[in-house]
Amino acid sequence: MKIAIITDIHHGSLSHTKDPNWDGLPALREFIDRAISEKADLVLDLGDHISDTTHEADHRAMSEVAEIFKAFPGLRVHVLGNHDVANLSIADNEAIFGQSMASSIIDLGDFRLIAWQPSVAATLRVGFPNAADHLDWLIEALNADDRPAVIATHVPLSGHSQIGNYYFQRTPHHSTYPDHTVVREAVEATGKAALWLSGHVHWNTVTNVGNVQHVTIQSLSERFTTAPLTAAAHAILEIEDGQFTVDVYGNDPFHVRLPFRKSGDRPWMAPMPPLDRIDPVLEAERLRA
Ligand SMILES: [Fe+2]
Repeated sequence: MKIAIITDIHHGSLSHTKDPNWDGLPALREFIDRAISEKADLVLDLGDHISDTTHEADHRAMSEVAEIFKAFPGLRVHVLGNHDVANLSIADNEAIFGQSMASSIIDLGDFRLIAWQPSVAATLRVGFPNAADHLDWLIEALNADDRPAVIATHVPLSGHSQIGNYYFQRTPHHSTYPDHTVVREAVEATGKAALWLSGHVHWNTVTNVGNVQHVTIQSLSERFTTAPLTAAAHAILEIEDGQFTVDVYGNDPFHVRLPFRKSGDRPWMAPMPPLDRIDPVLEAERLRA
């Protein structure tokens, strides 16, 4: 099973970190060509197709991106990013892409891909709304089947450190949902998730929490980690023989290979109480036992 992944294309206006000569459309075309030549079973796009400016400009930029995606003859799964809904509605996005942007479950044989789409409407001061408003759907989806699940969201919910991140070191609460812990613990309690793929944070990371492997993929157009080059990143995910590999290609290469299994197959021990609440006498007795 091979999935070609792209994220944070950010077609449209330039940002602080973008090369002034950058044009994402040829790079997106190359990605689609690669997905075709690699015979990818699926193209997964993790959102932020555009950098928003005005409704009219965003509509035009989004249409240009969608047109290129349509060249892929197989299954495509798109999730929306915060920039995709700054000036366009979800319905606008659905009309442009010709497909629903609601949360969905894709049956891929030995496992399932769950594209979970809680609101990505971020505000400058607050950040994202709670994701738990959409949590019942996700937990029901996970519990409805016994196969391992890959969850895909624009925004990561690993809670991983943003130290060093150009965008989020000083604004870490914009990097995830405010209730990411609640969501993660509910997902972990199902024991069904194996892998959680996200974009948004514009860097490659892997964070294992309770044996759910959270992986974030670098943005196509970013260069805060690769200046003066643009990352020009896309990824190939392969799942076989109980393992998965994610290879990120372009100027910010990354490779991870880990077991692919439901977290419930190898649950972690629950974290111990805070050290200042441990009775030293009882603890000494426990260790002697
Ligand atoms: Fe982004």
